[in-house]
Amino acid sequence: MRLFVDSASLHDIEEALKRGFASGVTTNPSILSHEERRDFVSHIRSIIDLLQRYNSSIPLSVELFTTDPDDMIVQAKQFIRDFGDYEQLAIKVPIGWDELRVIHAIRSMGARVNCTCCMSYNQAIMAAAAGANYVSIFWGRIRDTGSDAATVVRQVHQTFAERQSPAEIIVGSIRQMIDINEAIQAGADIVTVPPQFFPKMCAHPKTDEAVQQFMRDFAAWRGTDSTVTAAAEALLVRAVQ
Ligand code: E4P
Repeated sequence: MRLFVDSASLHDIEEALKRGFASGVTTNPSILSHEERRDFVSHIRSIIDLLQRYNSSIPLSVELFTTDPDDMIVQAKQFIRDFGDYEQLAIKVPIGWDELRVIHAIRSMGARVNCTCCMSYNQAIMAAAAGANYVSIFWGRIRDTGSDAATVVRQVHQTFAERQSPAEIIVGSIRQMIDINEAIQAGADIVTVPPQFFPKMCAHPKTDEAVQQFMRDFAAWRGTDSTVTAAAEALLVRAVQ
């Protein structure tokens, strides 16, 4: 089970890299549109530079932004020219009949594919059969239609495991914290998470209560002022020595 950062924000990606939990980064054209407007190639290059600065050779998914299959292949070649030096680049291609040709062409060029926008078992199976390295299943959007996203993920996971498919399942389209937990339990290899959820995933009011109680009790036992921070107290101790 791995967590990817579903963001094109240099700040948010860096916050994840600093904490060591990010196993990958996913972007899409909408996610990029949330960033300050700039040259697309420069922005993706900045993400790659950031990953390299942290010695973090983790998968980075970048989506094609055209829909005509021939143009998609041309654009994929351009991506490979612009970003192919980053070995963990995965080119995102939406699932579709004509798009399978694009997936196959990109794989034949030796690049990785993240087949995105999968909403059903059949789509994920077709993506994997065409050679996609990752299939991205859209949890929130499946649930919007009244279908059970967990069932789709569970069935795809079971088939991939039974048939020893090398394709990995990325669950995206996360809307709430519970989606992350359920996606993992349903068999996602990877969940790609919007960055605003990460701090919340570490937090619990009972944790805050416990830590505060430990600090209070210890300070009272030592007869020190509980408002003195550990760093300040270390300075005091050093000054006395
Ligand atoms: C990730 O790879 C997807 O592009 C992303 O999670 C989609 O999320 P959305 O359904 O909120 O647009």
